Amino acid sequence: MATQREVSPEQQAVEQGLVDAVVASFDTCPDSRLKELMVSLVRHLHAFIREVRLTEREWAAAIEFLTLAGHITDDVRQEFILLSDTLGASMQTINVNNQAYQGATEATVFGPFFVADSPPIEAGGDLSFGAPGEPCWVEGTVTGTDGKPLAGARIEIWEADEDGLYDVQYDAGKRAARGHLFSADDGGYRFWGLTPTPYPIPNDGPVGAMLDAVGRSPLRASHLHFMVSHEEARTLVTHIFPEDDPIGRKDTVFGVKDSLIKRFERQPAGTPTPDGRVVDGAWSRVRFDIVLAPAGV
Ligand code: BEZ
Ligand code: FE
Repeated sequence: MATQREVSPEQQAVEQGLVDAVVASFDTCPDSRLKELMVSLVRHLHAFIREVRLTEREWAAAIEFLTLAGHITDDVRQEFILLSDTLGASMQTINVNNQAYQGATEATVFGPFFVADSPPIEAGGDLSFGAPGEPCWVEGTVTGTDGKPLAGARIEIWEADEDGLYDVQYDAGKRAARGHLFSADDGGYRFWGLTPTPYPIPNDGPVGAMLDAVGRSPLRASHLHFMVSHEEARTLVTHIFPEDDPIGRKDTVFGVKDSLIKRFERQPAGTPTPDGRVVDGAWSRVRFDIVLAPAGV
């Protein structure tokens, strides 16, 4: 007896005929890149449907899932980014577009919580702006892959507070635990932030339900976001991850790369700080030397 997934030559011809017809429908597309994207998408989509022998109920469930993702999406909640992230599609697109280049710092996911109007901070300033969490001293340099300092690089930093929430999740207009500063003439930078802690991606929508259904955790590995730009360099979007993260390297959006795991040194209460600031309780410190690839690579 034929197994469920065996398909007769006659049936295969019907299915392949449809693929060919849909592919041919793009023959007149005037934009060659759009044509390439559409033809490949159709081929892969049909291959998926045929490989898993997708049922009509399953297809209806997928449409319902996408409909719910659309309904929950607004100016601050972007369910489609979460879907792309949790399927590894964001990370793969980043890999494809940020080719490894002569020791340049690796890129990772952007995530949905960057805002363009972060507050400026001075060198050594504090970007927590009152957000709860353990203080963390962050310092390093920005250089090119030739080792020369890059002065005036814009360094954007954003992170969740110790309760796992970004400022904009409290209130779209709130600004805390984020800021930007510029590298000095010697490429150096330093600031106070918060020691990162693990937190779940927003999981009260369809993507959370999908993770639940497949038995996956919604937690992201602890991290601190950076975006570093300089006119002579390729813009870098990345994070650093503490090596002693309680949840290890597991990350529901697949953003952890070995080179981005850093030692956050714990400092007991009373340990003098690098800039003489008096900190009430324990704090941590980390060094992150950022190497930017040249523009255009
Ligand atoms: C974040 O790190 O902010 C993030 C990244 C991907 C999905 C959700 C959150
Ligand atoms: Fe994040």
